[in-house]
Amino acid sequence: MVKDRPAPSAVRAARPGSGSRARDRAARTAVVLLGLALAGCGVGNDQSTLDPAATPARRISDLWWLMFIGGTVIFAVVVMLMLAAIVRGRGRPEDAPNRSPAGNRLVVLGGAVVPAIVLVALFALAVRTMPSTAASRAKDARLTVQVVGRQWFWEVRYPGLRITTANEIHIPVGQAVAVQVSTTDVLHSFWVPELNRKIDTIPGQRNAITLKAERAGVFAGQCAEFCGLQHAHMQFLVIAEEPAVFAQWVAAQQRPAPAPASAAAARGQAVFDTTTCAACHTIAGTPASGDLGPDLTHVTSRRMLAAGAIMNTPVDLGAWVRDPQHIKPGVKMPPTELSPNQLRDLLTYLGTLR
Ligand code: CUA
Repeated sequence: MVKDRPAPSAVRAARPGSGSRARDRAARTAVVLLGLALAGCGVGNDQSTLDPAATPARRISDLWWLMFIGGTVIFAVVVMLMLAAIVRGRGRPEDAPNRSPAGNRLVVLGGAVVPAIVLVALFALAVRTMPSTAASRAKDARLTVQVVGRQWFWEVRYPGLRITTANEIHIPVGQAVAVQVSTTDVLHSFWVPELNRKIDTIPGQRNAITLKAERAGVFAGQCAEFCGLQHAHMQFLVIAEEPAVFAQWVAAQQRPAPAPASAAAARGQAVFDTTTCAACHTIAGTPASGDLGPDLTHVTSRRMLAAGAIMNTPVDLGAWVRDPQHIKPGVKMPPTELSPNQLRDLLTYLGTLR
């Protein structure tokens, strides 16, 4: 005897419904978002406006706390009034046209007078905070750094010191450093939350901001203006060091790349110079003088690669050279076809660029 097969609609009903699948998806999304919130968004350090290490950032943080506390108080008052209204009930509809004079006063006070006072006060406080974040006069800064926002990395030049690097800005602690920002392509925004406000890079214009770190440390920076597919992978580090340490860094960066000291490194340099690498990157002291990508003269001294997309380890660098599009889709660097031996030699050579 053949049993009746259940109707297709019954089968569908027996499966987990689309409602529960949507709930699953929502739960998974919530877990992912929570993870991202807890893990931070990149390989850099924290980027917290609330952990200031410079006067402008502290003023901004003070303003933020004031707004946060004020907003919390106002929110609490509104919630209390709402609860009071709920507890007292809606009243009879025929009473509505004859609200009490006290009720009318409350509406005018809460709906017009208080918001006007709060908004004017906030405006005044914001205007008072702004000058502290402005660039100081150029003559007050002993060190100037030029930062060029490019899709998607930061070119960093020290015009007085003949240094070019990328995505890593070293500054001496306690000294005002004039940072001039510009762009060769689209709008970006240079932002080191623990040191100062954002400053946009605008085509055809040079903007300025001052960084003056009160303590040594590594401060994470981030492009804060949407600039295309890899906007999120446009991070950088500001490394504030004691003046003596900074001077050592300057001396090391001013040196051209050392000549390869081993046969493997020499073969690696040949690979660099004869494949596409040299067309886009500069290594000072060698024939490689491209300027489409970051200067690699001292690439191994940097902490991160690809503007913070990966850490600077030989394994990550190897993966990057082979297939950058996999790590940073849309990046201008093409994949490099190399044999395993060529790649090993190339990594050996790049490892000598300290
Ligand atoms: Cu550059 Cu966003």
